[in-house]
Amino acid sequence: MFPVLLAVAALAAEGQNNPVPYSKKSIGQGRNVYIRHCAGCHGNDGKATVDVVADATDLTNPKAYTGGTSDGEIARNIRNGRNASMPAFGSQFKNEQELWNLVNFIRSLWPESTRPSLQPDPKE
Ligand code: HEC
Repeated sequence: MFPVLLAVAALAAEGQNNPVPYSKKSIGQGRNVYIRHCAGCHGNDGKATVDVVADATDLTNPKAYTGGTSDGEIARNIRNGRNASMPAFGSQFKNEQELWNLVNFIRSLWPESTRPSLQPDPKE
């Protein structure tokens, strides 16, 4: 019971929900943004094994995140940056959708049991 309450409190504190469904299309578009802005430090596969910034977080392991793993927290950390070495990207995106596509792509890197369930692509 207690962990459930904690989880609910964490969700409420997260502040922002992801308005973009976790769909194949969103993940694919997020991947393009990722390759452009993020792969240089986090690696093409997100593992940060052969990268220029040695201490970049392994994005495939949610347990390695120190700043929170809810969609809202991930979006905030991308927007504002994190500590000294993770730059703020808030001004780099064409629109909010690009940021949330990126959040969806990042979650697609996680172990299967911790991923959201795939949603149908929104109708055009
Ligand atoms: C200049 C190198 C660099 C670039 C470019 C970069 N990151 Fe990072 N990122 C880092 C480093 C270093 C950390 C670890 C920061 C820390 O915890 O001290 C990090 C941490 C993170 C975290 C984990 C924060 C946490 O909760 O611990 C996320 C998520 C993340 N980056 C996503 C991204 C995304 C998405 C992009 C592209 C928009 C990106 N990063 C671009 C270097 C970079």
